[in-house]
Amino acid sequence: MPVCAYARAVTSSLIRRRISRSRLAPLAALPRRAARVVRHDAEVIAASARWLVRSREHHNFTYDLTATNIDHLAWFVAAVCDTPVEAVRRYLGEIAGDETLREHIRATTEAAARRGLADREVRYGRRVGWYALVRALKPEHVVESGVDKGLGTAVLAAALLRNAEDGRPGRVTAIDINPEAGYLVRADVWSTVVDLVFADSAATLASLDRPVDLFIHDSDHSVGHERREFTTIEHILTPNALLLSDNVTKTTVLSSYAERTGRRFLAFTERPVRHWYPGDGIGAAWRVRTDRR
Ligand SMILES: C[S@@+](CC[C@H](N)C(=O)[O-])C[C@H]1O[C@@H](n2cnc3c(N)ncnc32)[C@H](O)[C@@H]1O
Repeated sequence: MPVCAYARAVTSSLIRRRISRSRLAPLAALPRRAARVVRHDAEVIAASARWLVRSREHHNFTYDLTATNIDHLAWFVAAVCDTPVEAVRRYLGEIAGDETLREHIRATTEAAARRGLADREVRYGRRVGWYALVRALKPEHVVESGVDKGLGTAVLAAALLRNAEDGRPGRVTAIDINPEAGYLVRADVWSTVVDLVFADSAATLASLDRPVDLFIHDSDHSVGHERREFTTIEHILTPNALLLSDNVTKTTVLSSYAERTGRRFLAFTERPVRHWYPGDGIGAAWRVRTDRR
C-alpha cells in the first residue's frame, strides 16, 4: 500500500474509534442502522403486499417453512422422541411427497363452502412436525383440540394410516366447537381413522374414556383455556404420553405444566417462507420413555 493511502486509512480508523467513544456515536451510526431496518421492513411490506393480493386466508395461515427451519424441526422431533434424525427426515420426506393427500386437500378445498377463504396451494407449515412425531411414536390414540378446516387432522390421519401399514394402527379424536369444522377429513381413506367431535374441547376431554398417547392443543388459545385442556386431559394420559401446544410462541402454559408434572419441555419456532406472519411453533412436554410399544 502506498504511504499516503496507508496514512489515510490509519487516520480514518483513528477518527472512527474516537467517534465511537463519543456522544456522537449513535448519530454517526444512524445511516447504517436505518439502512438495515429499512431493508428488513421493506421485505415484510413486500411479503404483506404479495399475500394481500394472492392469498384468500383470513386466519390460521398456511405457508412452507425454510430449509433451515425444516432441519431444526427434524432435530426437534428427534430429541423429543429419542429417535435418530435420519428416521425423522424420512418421515418428513413422506409427508412432503404424499401427492395423494395433497390432491385430496386441493380438490376438497376447491369444492368446499368456505373455498372463498382458503388457498388452493397446500402448505402444512409446522404440521409436518406433527406427522413426524406420530410416525416416530406410533400412538394408538391421538387427540387434537381445534380442527378448523382439518388440515392438521388430515396430516395426523396420513401418519396414522402409514403406521397401520407398518402394523401399528391408531386413531385421532379431533374436537371442534364449530360443526362445520373438519371438512378435509370427512371422506375417503383419511376419514377411516378420524373421529370428529363437535363440542367444547375442555368438556370433551373430561369425558374421554380411551387412553391418550398424544394430545395437541390447538383450539381456544387463551391462557385459561389452554391451561384447562392440559389439566383436564391428565386423567386419561398414558404414562409416556406426549403433550403438544400450538400456542407455545404466545404462552408458557405448557412449559409451566411440564415443570409442575415432572416432564421435559422443548419448543420449536416456525420460520415461514415469504410470509408476513412470523409463524407459530410446537411446544412439547414428555416424560422420558421407559418402553417402546
Ligand atoms: C387454530 S384453529 C385449529 C387449527 C387446526 N388444528 C389446524 O391444524 O389447522 C382453532 C379452532 O379451534 C376451535 N375452537 C375454539 N374454541 C374452542 C373450544 N372451546 N372447543 C373446541 N374448539 C374450539 C375453532 O372453532 C377453530 O376451528
